[in-house]
Amino acid sequence: MITQVLVLNGPNLGRLGIREPEIYGSVSFEDLSELCRSTGRKLGLSVEVRQTDDEREMISWVHEAADARLPVVLNPAAFTHYSYALRDALAMRTAPLVEVHISNPAAREEFRHNSVVAAVADGTVAGFGLVSYQLALQAIAELAAEDNAGKPEPGLEEPVGPADPARP
Ligand code: DQA
Repeated sequence: MITQVLVLNGPNLGRLGIREPEIYGSVSFEDLSELCRSTGRKLGLSVEVRQTDDEREMISWVHEAADARLPVVLNPAAFTHYSYALRDALAMRTAPLVEVHISNPAAREEFRHNSVVAAVADGTVAGFGLVSYQLALQAIAELAAEDNAGKPEPGLEEPVGPADPARP
């Protein structure tokens, strides 16, 4: 069963490659997107990568994921540290959620030490550069497999076998 996953990225992550490369590396956002898609393929996940600088748009994507029961890998970027609106949207999730960071916010400025979204995620991967995304996708694959265990394959939702158990 192919699981669809959204990889959502917050403000300034579209500038990867030119944004503070000593912290975030020199790989572009397009390269990160391709890495996520190819990692997903190996894990049996169909990955769609998005980025926005706009809190309203990010929240609308989180609502969309909740409505469609889609797992999410989320790098909330600076929203991590202050967006209660994003946190409240994530609290409505209906599928696995992994928070991800390229850098290790705990080892940086004080204002980055608190994540207002961490408590509503299944877990957080931080500090491993782009590998953080690969590890997060691996976690999603595990969580989705647990969720899918025991569910019928698509197309087999109807009960198989005789409708009347008394008849062979
Ligand atoms: C970040 C860390 C945040 O503190 C920062 O605001 C970002 C990127 C990371 O991926 O390391 O924009 O989320």
